[in-house]
Amino acid sequence: MKMVRVDSLGANVSSIGFGCASLGGRVGARRGIEGLERAYDAGITWYDVAPSYGDGMAESILGQFASMKRGRVYICTKVGMRPPDISAAMRILKPIARASLAVFPGIRPRLSAMKSKPFKVPLSADLIRTSIDDSLRRLRTDYVDVLALHRPTREEVVREDIIRALERILQDGKARAISIAGDNEGGIGGLHEALPYRLIQIANNPFEPNLQRSAEIALRGTFVTYGSFSSLDLLVAKIGSDREILNALCEMGYQGDFTEIAAAFIVDYALATNSAGVTLFSMFRKEHLVFNLLRLAQAPMLHQLKRLAAAFSNGPRQTERMCGVSNDQRVKRC
Ligand SMILES: NC(=O)c1ccc[n+]([C@@H]2O[C@H](COP(=O)([O-])OP(=O)(O)OC[C@H]3O[C@@H](n4cnc5c(N)ncnc54)[C@H](OP(=O)(O)O)[C@@H]3O)[C@@H](O)[C@H]2O)c1
Repeated sequence: MKMVRVDSLGANVSSIGFGCASLGGRVGARRGIEGLERAYDAGITWYDVAPSYGDGMAESILGQFASMKRGRVYICTKVGMRPPDISAAMRILKPIARASLAVFPGIRPRLSAMKSKPFKVPLSADLIRTSIDDSLRRLRTDYVDVLALHRPTREEVVREDIIRALERILQDGKARAISIAGDNEGGIGGLHEALPYRLIQIANNPFEPNLQRSAEIALRGTFVTYGSFSSLDLLVAKIGSDREILNALCEMGYQGDFTEIAAAFIVDYALATNSAGVTLFSMFRKEHLVFNLLRLAQAPMLHQLKRLAAAFSNGPRQTERMCGVSNDQRVKRC
């Protein structure tokens, strides 16, 4: 497993982190713990969670998994988003919904449209104090490695009372470092020496190349990135509709059908552009864990990945020029 240094924790952690947003929601407790154990056995030491994840169940399930190996895993939880209110009837129906999804994956968009979503709550010193205590109880621990403000506003990131509450949490040893999660604008600004934030969690994929734009700021903190597979359908469509992009990917050594090529490119892009930080993936399926770890073992050329990603938003001629695809290669398929 490739490890990266997180200065704010004084520790080396796995460069791939496990995202637990689906733990307790789409993924039930038993299957979830199996997936977490499999990742741990493969060397993954970073686990990302929030009180709102898995309809409010993710922290408790992660706590079950982590309690016996607390000193060997790194946990980031958050404050600022509430889980949706789920009625008792809906909780009873959840296992039925999961079983139906396994048989009919096509119903996912309809189910997810029916589902209520987590929602943002205004941050306050009181909320931060009570939220971390509740998280620690659910996680069965007396500290988290990282506490992140979950989608804070720009104003919340710099507010005096919030900063004082975060500093108090550090002093009390309830968290070892503070982060901003999921708000790009507020987040990047937060990596200021005078503020307590030392890690920034942002989306990063070929269609949202947030890290590329912020490379110089990484010197002041650690980036934790997510959102890789939200770009999968778009990239598959690009590959299917633009022969030059397909040829450029073949030239770079990608093989398989459009989805396999897109998935490999997406993971390579995510890992290579955040090579000094932690890249989060949801990997409850064994084949996803294996695939993502295999990509980690490759060493793609960063500048080629970046140039091709930049070409996705340009026209076909631009793609050809950037990737050196000749006319006679246009019909080639990987
Ligand atoms: N700060 C924020 O606001 C914020 C927002 C979103 C996410 N996050 C964090 O980031 C984590 C990851 O979230 P994400 O949105 O980036 O999810 P993701 O890792 O892109 O995963 C989304 C889907 O892709 C699947 N997948 C994983 N590897 C794959 C592969 N090699 N090929 C095909 N499909 C694959 C996963 O399946 P399986 O899980 O079934 O294997 C999952 O269904 C979250 O769990 C959460 O911890 C934070």
